[in-house]
Amino acid sequence: MNSHRSSQPNVRLHSPAAERNQAQILAELRRVLPRKGLALEIASGTGQHAAHFAVGLHGWHWQPTDAEPQALASIDAWCGGLTNVRPALHLDVLAAARDASQGNMPAPFDAIYCANMLHISPWDTCAALMRLAAQHLTASGVLLLYGPYLEDTVPTAPSNLAFDADLRARDAAWGLRRLADVLQQAQAVGLQIRERVPMPANNLLLVLERAAPSVEKAT
Ligand SMILES: C[S@@+](CC[C@H](N)C(=O)[O-])C[C@H]1O[C@@H](n2cnc3c(N)ncnc32)[C@H](O)[C@@H]1O
Repeated sequence: MNSHRSSQPNVRLHSPAAERNQAQILAELRRVLPRKGLALEIASGTGQHAAHFAVGLHGWHWQPTDAEPQALASIDAWCGGLTNVRPALHLDVLAAARDASQGNMPAPFDAIYCANMLHISPWDTCAALMRLAAQHLTASGVLLLYGPYLEDTVPTAPSNLAFDADLRARDAAWGLRRLADVLQQAQAVGLQIRERVPMPANNLLLVLERAAPSVEKAT
């Protein structure tokens, strides 16, 4: 991963959705996370979430990342002056899954946060993300996933069905993911769901943790 720090405010990208949802996500992060720790953000995008959460979670240090160089400059511009945000790093989860050296992380993380990536990237990013999380979370660390999902037992909101159709029209490899499939990928690397938190606009915040190791029965 390469670091990149820009002080130019005009490279700030802006996401209206990130602005709308950041306060409610932060409220949940405050509830779910311990008082302090080191977080890795995957697919930070504009950097608005990183900046907002770093201000709201005083005890936390935040490591933003993204696969797009344009995003790295924007993240650094949004987070300039925040002493608990590290310079953005280039991280493509698919490349990291193919070549372990590209996924080299500066430390184990107490939390890994990833919002709105799984449906705007090929399905393989899910397995890659889970593998990274399993490799780089501390024993008590949590993986936090935010976004819209398809659930077998919950009717999909019309707005999410329309969003899914729009994504698939833009790129056949994109689309809303079935929550059961995501959790299967998590289980394959030893992660399990701890909490499913309904969020505004038919999104979910998912909290995953390491599954307790199974104890073999003595015969
Ligand atoms: C819709 S944006 C979400 C940004 C931000 N997390 C948010 O919720 O506002 C999707 C982001 O996923 C990133 N992304 C797509 N494929 C990726 C990959 N293979 N590895 C890392 N990031 C990826 C894109 O560069 C983009 O910044």
